[in-house]
Amino acid sequence: MLMKKFILVLSLVLTTQLFAQTPNWSEHIAPILYKNCTNCHIDGGIAPFSLVSYENVKTYSYGVKNSTASRRMPPWPADVQYQRYAHERILSNEEISAIAGWVDGGMPKGDTTKAPAKPVLKTGGGINNPTLNLKIPDYSVKTTSDEYRCFVLPTGFTQDQFLTAIEVIPGNLRVVHHALIFHDTSAKPLQLDAADPKPGYLSFGGTGSSASDLIGIWVPGSEPYFFPTGFGIKLPKKGHIILQIHYPGGVNNVVDSTRVILKTTTINQRQVAIQPALNHNAPNLQNGPLYIPANQIKSFNNKYDLPVDISVFTVGPHMHLIGSSIKAFGVTPNKDIIRFVDIPKWDFHWQRSYTFRNVVKIPGGTSLRGQASYNNTSSNPFNPSNPPQAVSLGEGTNDEMFLVYFWFTLYQPGDENIIIDNTVLKNVSKTSVLKTETANIYPNPASDFAWVSDTRFTEGLCEWSIIDITGKTLLSGTQLMNSGRRCQIPVSQLPAGAYQILVEQGNTRYSGRLLKQ
Ligand code: HEC
Repeated sequence: MLMKKFILVLSLVLTTQLFAQTPNWSEHIAPILYKNCTNCHIDGGIAPFSLVSYENVKTYSYGVKNSTASRRMPPWPADVQYQRYAHERILSNEEISAIAGWVDGGMPKGDTTKAPAKPVLKTGGGINNPTLNLKIPDYSVKTTSDEYRCFVLPTGFTQDQFLTAIEVIPGNLRVVHHALIFHDTSAKPLQLDAADPKPGYLSFGGTGSSASDLIGIWVPGSEPYFFPTGFGIKLPKKGHIILQIHYPGGVNNVVDSTRVILKTTTINQRQVAIQPALNHNAPNLQNGPLYIPANQIKSFNNKYDLPVDISVFTVGPHMHLIGSSIKAFGVTPNKDIIRFVDIPKWDFHWQRSYTFRNVVKIPGGTSLRGQASYNNTSSNPFNPSNPPQAVSLGEGTNDEMFLVYFWFTLYQPGDENIIIDNTVLKNVSKTSVLKTETANIYPNPASDFAWVSDTRFTEGLCEWSIIDITGKTLLSGTQLMNSGRRCQIPVSQLPAGAYQILVEQGNTRYSGRLLKQ
C-alpha cells in the first residue's frame, strides 16, 4: 500500500515536470529584456555588453539570471518593499522566475517569428515641441580619474518662464556617467567658466555657486521628467542652465556633445521648488558635524519640522562616495509615518530621483526625518582614499554630503488625488499572501486538464498547487499564464475525488474546489 502511494506521488511529480512549460526566448524572455534591459544593454549603450541577440544573452545567461534574481539589475537602488514609485524600472517576481526557468531549462529559442522586433538605441525625443534644445560645446574627454565638469548654457529667456518638462540626451553614453541640471541667474558660473581654459569648469557636487537651483537629475536609463499638469519650476529671465556632467576616469579623447531639452511656458504655473529640506547643516543635522574619521562607520540623523502643508511629487537623496545607506520618512502630527525613500545600499553612480505614484500631501507640523550611514573603511569599494582618510562635509570627491531633495509645492485641497502613474504595479512581494479569492475553475468535474481563470490575473507565471482532503499538497507546478489569463493545470494523474486547487499571484491566493472524474 505504502509502495503504491509512493509510486503515485512519484508519477505525479514526474507529470508536473513534464507539463511545466519552460519559457522560451521568442515569446517570454526577449519581451522582458527588451522592456527592462536593452535601453542600456545595447550596442552604443551605457552597459558594457548588449543583451539584444539570443546568442549574446546565452553567453551572459548566468549573469542575467543572477543579477535579476538578486535585483541588482535593472539598477533601481530604492527598496520597493518600503515604497512604490511611478515608472519603476524593476522586474516582477514572475519575470525573475521566468528568466531563471528559461536559463535552467536550457534556454529554448522557441518560435522566432513570435519574437518582438529588436530594439534600437534610443537617443531622446521624449518631449514634444521643446522650447530649448541646448548643446554643450563639443568637449574632448580625457581623464585619468573621475571628472565633474559644469557647462554653462544661457537660456536666452527675455521673460520669466516655467519649466514643465526636462530631458538630458547624453552625447556619448560611454562617457556620460550621470548629470545634474541647475539653473542660475548669478554671474558666478560665468566667472568660473572664464577661469577654466577648457569648455565649462571643474566642480564636484554642486556648481560652486550658491545661487544655483537644482532643476533635474539624469542617470543612465532616465526618462524625461514631466511635472504634473499645471505645475512648473520658475526660471527667471536671463538665467543659465548649468549642466554638470560626471565623466569616469580612463577616457582617452572621446568627444561628448550632451544636450539638455527643456519645455517651458510663460503661462503661470503652480510653482515647484526642489529643495534639500533634509540636509547636513545645523540645526537640521542632529548629531553633526558631518565628520567620518578614517576606518569608521558612522550614522547621522537629520530632522526638519515642516511649518506648512506641502504637496510632494518626487524625492532625491544625495550623498557622495562613502555613503552606504540613506532613508527618509515623515512623522505627522497624528504620528502617522509617511514613507519617502529607503536606499539600503547607496551607490553614487546610480543616484536618481524617485517620483511618487500620487502627489503626496505632507501636513504642516510633520517632522521630516533622514537617516544615513557612511562606511569610511577599506571594505567600501567606492572609498576614494586608500588607505581611508578622515572625511568631512564639502563638495569635493573626497568630501561627504547628506541631502534629501524634495520636489514640492504649497498644498492645495485635492492635490493628493493627482495621479502621476496609474499603471499596474509589478509584483515584488516575496512571501506575503494577503488575500484569498474564489477561483474560477472549469471544466468541473475535469478529467485531463482544469483551467483556472480570473480577470485579475496578471501576465507572467501561475504558481498552482493541488491539495487533497487531508490538506496534503499532491501536486504543484509553475506555468506561464496563457493568453486570456488562464492557467492550465494537468489533473489526469489524480485519482477520482475532490481536491482544492490553489493559484497564487502577487498578493492574492485564488482557491477553489475541483472534482476529478
Ligand atoms: C539603466 C541601465 C541598465 C539597465 C536598465 C540594465 N543594466 Fe545591466 N548593467 C548596466 C551597467 C552600466 C552595467 C555595468 C556596471 C555595473 O555593474 O553597474 C551593467 C551590468 C550588468 C551585468 C554584469 C554585472 C552584474 O551585476 O552581474 C549583468 C549580468 C546585467 N547588467 C544584466 C542586466 C539585465 C538582465 C537587465 C534587465 C533585466 C539589465 N542589466 C538592465 C546598466 C543597466
